[in-house]
Amino acid sequence: MDGNEDWRGMRQINSPAFTKAKLEKMTPLIHLAIDRVIRRIDSKLIYSNVLELRGLFSKYSFELVNNTLFGVELEDEQLKIIFDEILNLPTKPSIWHTLAITCPQIISVATPVILQYYLRFTNIFDKFVLSCIYGEQNNGNTVLDFMKELKNETDNDSRKTKIDDNVICQQLLTYSLATYETVAYNTSLILYTFSLHQDIQEKCYEEVTEIDKKYKGIVSWDSISEMKYFDMVFDEILRMNAGNHVIERKCTVLKYRFPGTNLVIDKNVFVFFSTHGLNYDPKYFSNPEAFNPDRFSPENKANITPCVYLPFGEGPRNCIGKRYAKFTIMTTIFCLLRKYRMLPCEKTEKLQIDPSMLLASRALGGIFAALEPRNTYIRS
Ligand code: HEM
Repeated sequence: MDGNEDWRGMRQINSPAFTKAKLEKMTPLIHLAIDRVIRRIDSKLIYSNVLELRGLFSKYSFELVNNTLFGVELEDEQLKIIFDEILNLPTKPSIWHTLAITCPQIISVATPVILQYYLRFTNIFDKFVLSCIYGEQNNGNTVLDFMKELKNETDNDSRKTKIDDNVICQQLLTYSLATYETVAYNTSLILYTFSLHQDIQEKCYEEVTEIDKKYKGIVSWDSISEMKYFDMVFDEILRMNAGNHVIERKCTVLKYRFPGTNLVIDKNVFVFFSTHGLNYDPKYFSNPEAFNPDRFSPENKANITPCVYLPFGEGPRNCIGKRYAKFTIMTTIFCLLRKYRMLPCEKTEKLQIDPSMLLASRALGGIFAALEPRNTYIRS
């Protein structure tokens, strides 16, 4: 079996981890993390209404990972330190990509050294996951519970890709890091964007207020699915701030000709393309520097060239966590928007993304906004 088949088998059995039904059951666990961040914000607002959002929401997404993936509430921050160390690895992406293409031998020599570095972390992580698998906690609705069920199923079915404890640890490490990074980054980015665009924030707030009335304050899959205007705003924020700047694919056929051109590539050749480049190309998005959620209204969205806008990738290798990411981020924004108004403050600056990060998206100097409680919100 080649790596592609391994991936395919694994992807097939893991795909149901984030179905609508699973996310509905997971909703109370998401709210646990939201309630905590709201308490944290309220206690910070006693001293100052200026908040550094990226740090605040890193803590939040760490708790989200613990609650929804593992069903635990970790006070011990050892794992968070590990996640930060892995994600903060300051490596120029261009160097690694250039080396991988031009001189793969160097990568194979460097790999054991890099692996050694990661192993130090993954050992600690594996111990934690194993303690969750064999420990007392069993919420029934976490991703870990789903993986445990898969393990039992695949033990009894010889046609399926086997899931053992090692596989569970690997998958959960990927999901944990992806959630920890993307939820924190995008949530802070959305609140920051609201602070700069009051008119758009108010439109989202009105939408949330209407939905809140209709669903009598219950924030669920059904109510979140009605955030149509916010969905457009979110799409535009992802267009302007693609965390994943490069998408890569490997040619798996002997010869591939790019349709309409004479360009032919051989098997195993990597193709890299820049999502940022596509998102800011005036050929595809007029006036690309302008923040304009209307680009993603249903009628305008239908006119976007296929495979140009790729916030979650495309095809069989697209983001497996898309539904989970969107649902958790939208639920969080719903709850924050009905409680606070985001405003610019002295520390609010144009975002400067640190170009030296390989895995994480970091704004140099942090992401700041001022938060003001909305008096109209009466629920505790
Ligand atoms: C706003 C949040 C997120 C964004 C923008 C995002 C974006 C992406 C993109 C662009 C890709 C590459 C897709 C391709 O090559 O076609 C990807 C892959 C992936 N993402 Fe996400 N992601 C997000 C959240 C998450 C979350 C929360 C998880 C975990 C549950 C996750 C897990 C993954 C995995 C495992 C892959 C590799 C899929 C595969 O190769 O089968 N992502 N994501």
